[in-house]
Amino acid sequence: MKNGALWLDTDGRGIQAHGGSILQHNGIFYWYGENKDTDTHNRSVDFVGFSCYKSRDLLHWENCGLVLSAVNELGHDLHPDSVCERPSVLYNAETQKFVLWFHLDNRRYTRAEVGLAVSNTPTGPFTYMGSQRPGSHDSRDFTAFQDRDGRAYLFCSSDWNATMRVWELDKTYTKLTGSGKEILIDQAREAPALWHSGEKYLMFSSGCTGWSPNTMLYAESSAIFGSWRLIDAPCRGPGARRTFGAQSAAVFAANGQPYLLLDHWHPDDLRNSGYTILPITFENGLPALNWQDEWMGI
Ligand code: DGJ
Repeated sequence: MKNGALWLDTDGRGIQAHGGSILQHNGIFYWYGENKDTDTHNRSVDFVGFSCYKSRDLLHWENCGLVLSAVNELGHDLHPDSVCERPSVLYNAETQKFVLWFHLDNRRYTRAEVGLAVSNTPTGPFTYMGSQRPGSHDSRDFTAFQDRDGRAYLFCSSDWNATMRVWELDKTYTKLTGSGKEILIDQAREAPALWHSGEKYLMFSSGCTGWSPNTMLYAESSAIFGSWRLIDAPCRGPGARRTFGAQSAAVFAANGQPYLLLDHWHPDDLRNSGYTILPITFENGLPALNWQDEWMGI
């Protein structure tokens, strides 16, 4: 598939999984994302729902439909007038539930909450459980991250995106324990995508320029609640200074190799926004993302 383009599913339809994340479960990859298959007005779309696609090779994606749908009831959190973005799904082995956190907002982005939905199966339907401001702080772009020890965290752009906050989830992944920390203070980062390599935790993030591409940077820390530092720009190749015209969505691993999923936003026609997947390599011990025209799967 051509990186940067809107990819097609196995039915030949455009994949609607923008701002997405990829979860591997029992040998199958599940791609969750925003279904934006409706007309764009003022650089915004009505909330349709979150889609799920599944694949074994990360190339042929079968549409599993909407796993959380908009609710056409006035005042409902999932009303089409709401902004629901960046679904991030974790599997909790203890409760055997799939836990979907997302960014819940209004069109002015002043609500700034995280929403929660839970399912017994990866393809849903997920049951909506409510929303909150983590630790009473605003939260816009965010990601949920599962550590190797089974602990999970939310990384949230906060203080009007000036500072990020990391929040610990409880054992069920459905509640916040209250433990949190400010990181990347006044660094103005969004679109966080987390992974770990060796002893390090790493994070890709973008600057805050709305739908317009900017320079992705990576940050690292030796612990989740450690001292996160922005290090450098990982992109190499044409358009690298503007992240190839894309923005980070999520990191996932396949056969031990980490990959980054990116969105190529089309602000005036959001449903046709494209995708890229690139392998994350290391050059002189530092993460690098080399542009490739084609995504060939695994
Ligand atoms: C940038 C964010 O990363 C996207 O998820 C979306 O919220 C846009 N801003 C809206 O302008």
